[in-house]
Amino acid sequence: MLPPTTDVAAEIDATVARFAHEPDNLILILHAIQNAHGYVPRESALVLSARLGVPLARIYEVLTFYHYFRTAPPGEHTVVVCNGTSCWLNGSAEVLAMAEAHAAHEGETRVEQVRCVGCCALAPLAFADKKIYTHLDTARTADMLAALRPQRAPR
Ligand code: FES
Repeated sequence: MLPPTTDVAAEIDATVARFAHEPDNLILILHAIQNAHGYVPRESALVLSARLGVPLARIYEVLTFYHYFRTAPPGEHTVVVCNGTSCWLNGSAEVLAMAEAHAAHEGETRVEQVRCVGCCALAPLAFADKKIYTHLDTARTADMLAALRPQRAPR
């Protein structure tokens, strides 16, 4: 395995030092790394494992347990589908399936799920690039996903 780049090692050292006074600081450090990069790069996790003396498997346990953390770069677009009870009862499974199909076909789109966001009267709902889309049915979901496609200039 290649040694970590100087930048990564310096970044992790600075982040570890920032949270050195906090007990159980692994999650705080992982949040800081993700806030800096949009995800937790594997190289950062490797350096962090060495610096904290925490097994890499433990770091990935934390990263995969909390849905907030990402281990891959976010796509150009993000679709967040609410899959709470009200949204699920009103068809979020179809919204999710359409969003995942879109992501598989178009690429550059990351699909995430969340539990109730507190707007159950608007179910089912999703966020596409942070814009909320409510009362989603097949047609409205298709419109939401179409808005994520790059707009081509007319010829
Ligand atoms: S279940 Fe989706 S907003 Fe409440």
